[in-house]
Parts: sequence; C-alpha cells; structure tokens
Amino acid sequence: MCGIVGYTGKKEACAVIIDGLKKLEYRGYDSAGVALQKNGRLVIAKGAGSVADLEAKLGDQFKAVTVGIGHTRWATHGRPTDENAHPHSSCNDEIALVHNGIIENYRSLRQWLIDEKGHKFHSETDTEVLAHLVEEYYAGDLLAAVRMSLAMVEGSYGLVVLSSHEPGRIICARQDSPLIIGLGEGENLVASDIPALLAHTRRTIILEDGELASITAQKVDIYNADGCLIEREVFTVTWDIEAAEKGGYDHFMLKEIMEQPAAVKETMRQRIDTTTGKVNLSELDFTAKELSSLEKIHIVACGTAYHAGLLGKAVIEKLAGIPVEVDVASEFRYRQPLLKEKQLVIVISQSGETADTLAALRLARQKGLKVLAITNVVGSSVSREADQVLYTWAGPEIAVASTKAYLTQLVALYLVALYLGETRGSIEPELAAEIVSGLKSLPGHLKTILSEESLSSLRPYCDHLAKWESAFFVGRNLDYPVALEGALKLKEISYIHAEAYPAGELKHGPLALIVRGIPVIAIATQKAVLDKTLSNIHEVNARDGAVFAITQEGFEDVARQVDSVFYLPSINDILAPVLSVVPTQLIAYYTALARGCSIDKPRNLAKSVTVE
Ligand code: F6R
Repeated sequence: MCGIVGYTGKKEACAVIIDGLKKLEYRGYDSAGVALQKNGRLVIAKGAGSVADLEAKLGDQFKAVTVGIGHTRWATHGRPTDENAHPHSSCNDEIALVHNGIIENYRSLRQWLIDEKGHKFHSETDTEVLAHLVEEYYAGDLLAAVRMSLAMVEGSYGLVVLSSHEPGRIICARQDSPLIIGLGEGENLVASDIPALLAHTRRTIILEDGELASITAQKVDIYNADGCLIEREVFTVTWDIEAAEKGGYDHFMLKEIMEQPAAVKETMRQRIDTTTGKVNLSELDFTAKELSSLEKIHIVACGTAYHAGLLGKAVIEKLAGIPVEVDVASEFRYRQPLLKEKQLVIVISQSGETADTLAALRLARQKGLKVLAITNVVGSSVSREADQVLYTWAGPEIAVASTKAYLTQLVALYLVALYLGETRGSIEPELAAEIVSGLKSLPGHLKTILSEESLSSLRPYCDHLAKWESAFFVGRNLDYPVALEGALKLKEISYIHAEAYPAGELKHGPLALIVRGIPVIAIATQKAVLDKTLSNIHEVNARDGAVFAITQEGFEDVARQVDSVFYLPSINDILAPVLSVVPTQLIAYYTALARGCSIDKPRNLAKSVTVE
C-alpha cells in the first residue's frame, strides 16, 4: 500500500529516492521520509506531508550521500503523523527500515521488547517493532539479523533495512507485499513498484514471497526462505512510465479489479482467529451488553457504498437477527429518521470524506447514537468523528469507479454480522463456521474469476452491449443489490443508461422495454429463488432480449435458458454477492473500453464527493 525506494551506488541517493517516491505518489500518500548512510551514521528525515515537503526539508544537505532508503506512507496502524512516518529506527539509531504490510503480532512483540529487553518506542506503528527486533539480533551481519527477526513475525511485509555498520549494503525481504530489485551499472535499487525504477534501469528481479536479498552497488544476492543463495530470472520491463504506474494494465480500474483477491485477503487478515475459526474484531470495543441490547441498526452511505449497505442489511439480519434500515446518506439527513436508544448507526465510505455520509454521522452522534464507520482511509474525517472504526484494507483506490473498496466493504460487513451474531449468540455455530470457511475461500475464487480465460469469455457480450444505449440488470434476493451495483458501474464508465430491477418486478412495467437484442444481465446465484429468476429470464428470452446470466457452478439449468452464461465457483449463497459482482465490474470495464470512454476519470464525476 505504501511506497518504498532504496538506492546504493554512485549517484546522489537523496535525489534518486525522492524522484522514485514521486513516481509512486500518484496513489495519494500522507507522509514521507528517508534514511541515509552518512559518514558511518544513519540520518533520518521524515514527517507528515507530501514528498515535495520532504524534498524541501532535505534541501542540498545530503548531496554527497550515495546510499539510502525512502518511504511514502498510506496510514494503516497509527495516524498520519511525523512520529508514525517511516523510516523507523532502533534505540541505538544504528538500524533504520521502511515497511509495507502489517505485522500482525506486533503488540506482543512490542510488549516483549519493552518489558524484557528495555526498548523504547516512539511511534504507534506496527513497523517499529521490526527496527527494535533487528537491533536485538544484530551481531555484525544485517542479513542474519533481519532473517532472525522475521522468524518472530506474523504478517505481511515488503521490508528494506539499513545499518550504520554496513556501508553501501541494503537488505530487503518480501512476504505478501511486492518488492522489485532494479539492476543497474555500478548501482542497484529496490522499490515497491516498477515506476520508481524506470529512470535508472529496466532490468529487474521481482522478489517472491519468503525471499530476502542483500544489495550493494556491485552485487545482488537473493536467498530463498530456507536461507539458500538462489539464481533469479531477470525481467526486462518494456512498459512506459504511465503503464508501469498501472502495473502494466491499461487502466487503474482494471488494476484495482485485479487487486481484489489481495484486498479481500488483507481485510480478513487478523480478523479471523486461525485456531478457533471465530471472528475477532479486537479493534472494536463495544461492550457485550451494548451489542446484546441492540434493537436496530441504521446503515448509511452513498453510491457504491450504499449498495454494500443493502447487502449488509441482508447479512446482518440473517446472521445476527437485528433489524437493519439502509439509507442513502443524502436522504437520511433530511428525512428525520427515528433515532432512538439501543440503536447503532453504521456509515460506510471508501474515502471517509463524503459530505452527506459525514453529515449523517454527525446527525446520529448529535442524537446520542454510537456510530461505527467502515472506511478505507485512516485519518479521514469519517474515521476521526466516528465512535469506532473498522478499516477496509483495500489500499489506495485511484479509479473513480469503486471496485476493490466495494468488495472489502462487503467483507467488513460479513465480519460485523458474524461478530454481532456470535456476541449475541444468535448464530448457529455450524453456520458461523461455514461462513468463515467460505470467507477464507474468497481470495482463491476471485483469482479463478479473474483468470485470462474468464475475462476473454466476457468480451463478445460486452461488444454487443457497447452498441446499445440502454441495458437492464436483474436479480432477486441478495442478487438484487448486485444488480444495482452492476448497473451503476456500467452507467458511470460506459455512459449507457442502465437500470436494475428485482427480477420479479420486470412484468410490472419494464418488460414493455424489452425488445430484440436489448442487453439484460441476470444475476442468478440464490438457490432458493433460482426457479423464479429463471422464469423471469424466460420472459426476457420470449421477447428476444439478449440475456447474460451470472450464476454458480452446479446451476446447470441456467445455461439451458440463455446464450451467454458466466459460472462462478460454487459458494454458500450468502457469500455469492462478493463473487457475482466481479463479472459485472468487468462487463462495465470492457464495454466502456469498446466505446472508447475515459474509464478512470468518467465525465462529471469525482473520486471524493466532499460537497452536498
Ligand atoms: C461509484 C462510486 C461512488 C462512491 C460514492 C461514495 O463507483 O465510487 O458511488 O461509492 O461516491 O463514496 P465514498 O465511499 O468515498 O463515501
């Protein structure tokens, strides 16, 4: 999620690092910093703010320095402050490091380092434990100290480390967070993303999970998880800088769609206890009494986040047995909702800055209700003003059309529903276990859905859809909010007028618009209403509409009814919306592509709507 650059060579390290960090800044960061090796010491400069602020602070002071590491932060653990900015250093200031990812067991490690080893901490971050661990294990070989430290750690990391005792040497390690080594002539680099390297080299080595590397100006040694020196293939980057920012994809939207398996995994990480299989939302501190006495929940959000809320309603009602009302935030604040004791308000917002959502949050708090925020941005207005926050760990979302943030909002809502159900004793343990195991299977299923083969199977239908100015999305039960989200995505990026209907509503009016060839996307993943949905599909077929069905493996009847069908891996119906929305995102994307639309920045829209 954050940006990392490390350099060792003959050039001015500061300039190389600052330039590299700027190439990564398109994701929108909140703090930046560097650690430089200067005359046998480490110098750290860091703070909240942009890379340009850091550059101004550094000025010309370090022109002679040729080794250093740098970081731009997208706050996760701890607010965007000077102290929480990376690099973090050890007590003796002899180790400095930058880190992307999450150290899951940082609390216990921190306690151990303070109580047993006398370390002093300066930040709220999980990362700082790594600096103290490396100091603890350092005995003359930085690589060995990093390896021993990582053996203590659970979580994910792209980690780059410097020691004042080892001039010219950078150590890095990767687990579930990308790191790429750039191979130069008399210089070498490391970065979390390719754009930061391209001004210096196109020859790269992409580190794999579990690998560590020792980098000097002359040499790059790579070690596998067992500590053996290995040979790695060199990957020559042919993308230009713009394509590289998008990870080689044509648009941020497609990149973000492809990031969904990782985003979903990240949002579940640490929140499902691997030994008990129970949901563990230790970041929330509602009392059991507060939760047991809840009589109603209001979910309030806008746009895509509102669609997540509609699914949240269904899932919370089903798993926790609490009645839920869902409101569009701009309506909630003016409809004088009946807000009473024993009610909870959940606001959902990717940006955490949406004006209407923020106003709804304030209204609820004014009326004395507690507000739980589900948001993607640490330090956002919503996160600061809510009583409790559950972060989605989707990472920065650049495309205006929300995709990966939406999926992580759904996952957060499933976790909340399970948490409420388990605390209130309203969910059968077998059902809870089934949902937890289904949640764990999501990243794998999403990868299957995003395979090359699946993507190309959608393209012919999108080429057909691209010729129309109107389309329908239909679904029943949990498929209906997915239909709404699919229609919204298609509208906003392809400019095709799309309407979503509960499938049973077709014959109450919209059927009049069904003519030969009109695109109708039918979501049919819910067993209990499958036959009903099929009969609605039949109504469209009878009028020669062009139906594209999205269903689960095993529902073979669907293929017999329609020309085009997309099979999702089989999953518990409650979780199917997390999978079924993905083909609708892809349909919107490829249709907009076929129409030559401005996909990442659709006309008239902004990523964050901070006005009413
Ligand atoms: C659609 C989309 C918008 C946002 C809405 C709320 O793709 O992105 O509908 O979902 O503007 O934004 P957040 O979640 O930032 O409050």
